Amino acid sequence: MPKEHDMSPLAADPFGKEAYDVLKDMLSERVRPKRLKHSVNVAKVARRLAKAYGADPDKARLAGILHDWDKGLDNEQLRDRAIELKVDVDEMVLTDMPWLLHGPTAAAALSRAYPQFGADVFQAIERHTSGAADMAPLDCIIYVADIIEPNRTFGDMEGIERLRGLVGEIPLEELYFEAFKYTLQFLVSTDRVLYPATIDTWNILMRTYGHIAKEKIDIWNIPALD
Ligand SMILES: [Fe+2]
Ligand SMILES: [Fe+2]
Repeated sequence: MPKEHDMSPLAADPFGKEAYDVLKDMLSERVRPKRLKHSVNVAKVARRLAKAYGADPDKARLAGILHDWDKGLDNEQLRDRAIELKVDVDEMVLTDMPWLLHGPTAAAALSRAYPQFGADVFQAIERHTSGAADMAPLDCIIYVADIIEPNRTFGDMEGIERLRGLVGEIPLEELYFEAFKYTLQFLVSTDRVLYPATIDTWNILMRTYGHIAKEKIDIWNIPALD
């Protein structure tokens, strides 16, 4: 029997600590303990990032605890849920990369159940899996927090440490650019298939943030290969 939850804090003060605790409790019934710990850490780091970058810390904490709401579902369940919720995703994700659906399905389901959390929270949840070229501050916060939370134990740890060191040192959008670049490098270095929209996003980001890379390598003046 699923536990009964007192849902009143979600209506009374959706960004408050009580609402957060109710949602954390509900999440504990949806994901394994390790994932719950990850989500709690993402919420904490998101709160810290929001404070560092002048965003709303309580909203960031809420988006953080909710971002992996659907991570406990398997590929088949994610596909079914995406279709049922009429989530707008392309065919390739649906057939070849269903794990990317856990952001969009969570955002769709939660926006229907708790519209009071607001469009910015749902967008941050939706975008945490693939990023985007036009990320709002809260989108950037959740994307980065997901990667740098202290329990993150897989991936290129040197790259993660570098990202952690950049917090507060560079603007939030640039921090996101660096985090997106980290993800892309990790995916390529581990021989993963890339979602085509990810490459489009990278190309758009390079137009905006190429100057950052340019300081390290003059990408516009690399001699042509013979
Ligand atoms: Fe996720
Ligand atoms: Fe996550």
